[in-house]
Amino acid sequence: MTTKKPIRVAVTGAAGNIGYSLLFRIAAGEMLGPDQPVILQLLEIPVEKAQQALKGVAMELEDCAFPLLSDIVLTDDAKVAFRDANHALLVGSKPRGPGMERADLLKDNGKIFVGQGRAIDEVAADDCRVAVVGNPCNTNTMIAASQAKRLPKSRFTAMVRLDQNRAAAQLAKKANVAVSDIGGIYIYGNHSPTMYADFTHATIKGQPVTSVIKDEAWLKNEFLPKVGKRGAEIISARGLSSAASAASALIDHVRDLTRPGTVHSVAVVSDGSYGFAEGVWAGVPVKTTTEGYEVVKSVQMDEFSKSKLAATNEELVGERDTVKELLPS
Ligand code: NAD
Ligand code: LMR
Repeated sequence: MTTKKPIRVAVTGAAGNIGYSLLFRIAAGEMLGPDQPVILQLLEIPVEKAQQALKGVAMELEDCAFPLLSDIVLTDDAKVAFRDANHALLVGSKPRGPGMERADLLKDNGKIFVGQGRAIDEVAADDCRVAVVGNPCNTNTMIAASQAKRLPKSRFTAMVRLDQNRAAAQLAKKANVAVSDIGGIYIYGNHSPTMYADFTHATIKGQPVTSVIKDEAWLKNEFLPKVGKRGAEIISARGLSSAASAASALIDHVRDLTRPGTVHSVAVVSDGSYGFAEGVWAGVPVKTTTEGYEVVKSVQMDEFSKSKLAATNEELVGERDTVKELLPS
């Protein structure tokens, strides 16, 4: 029996596809630990169908009798959902369909993050950490964080962990090894086809990837596009965007941001490292610290990598330009 105080986790879009794969794992202790009670504060849009679906999800959560689930709050009001929240997981937004790029969602989804960023800044706990999944997640995070007057911008992160997991899985498959044999594969830049999964510093059983997979053409021309376009491949196969793998990556993202010493891929506000424009949210390797995280800045990039970083940076800067009316002047 744990005596820990419950942690409040707000989840938006809680009755959606990702929500359905995510909430049960949080309540089971997979995100914050097997002895950490949680209170789930679930937000859905003020539409009867969505609110009914949310009630159904809450009934199933109750029926699991999770010992760590202290309470469930259901609401259509962002200020209720985010009140005193220690974690805010921003999933709720439109997914793309076949033939769309994630950036095509900016106009519809971007505005959601203005109001939610404001509400979080107003009512969330002082230690609140915000993780954005709703696409295009890098730029949506920038929009939410732009409303922050009280919370530091470094607390707002976007999820590129699914891309890191995909990259590790593809390398393991190619080299015919276990995923746990893959080390040091990190994602730079945008959660979009321009992202750069830096295989040049990754390892397989401790050896450089390039000395195990001696096929540079595969690494550059098949591996990178495979990882970059995996979301579209899933949409085309499933008719729906990735959900269980996205939820799993979000569990990894939040959990690893609470484990000091862990190095993992997170999109964070750029301070200019790796040539990313200051103020955009770019994927980089970060090392979790007791205070939060620090960006791993020591990776030396070759000319090929630099050209990839420049391309994904250009896209992030373009997205920022597209949403400039949503950003405070
Ligand atoms: P979904 O349509 O199944 O669910 C989204 C839910 O959000 C819906 O129930 C909807 O009612 C709700 N919602 C919409 N606007 C809201 C708002 N303003 N406040 C609260 N809830 C709101 O979609 P999904 O498959 O769960 O995907 C959600 C988002 O996550 C999409 O934008 C998708 O593209 C993105 N995504 C990102 C990654 C990533 O790696 N970053 C991976 C997968 C999906
Ligand atoms: C993914 O990478 O699976 C998600 O971002 C969904 C999408 O639109 O590709």
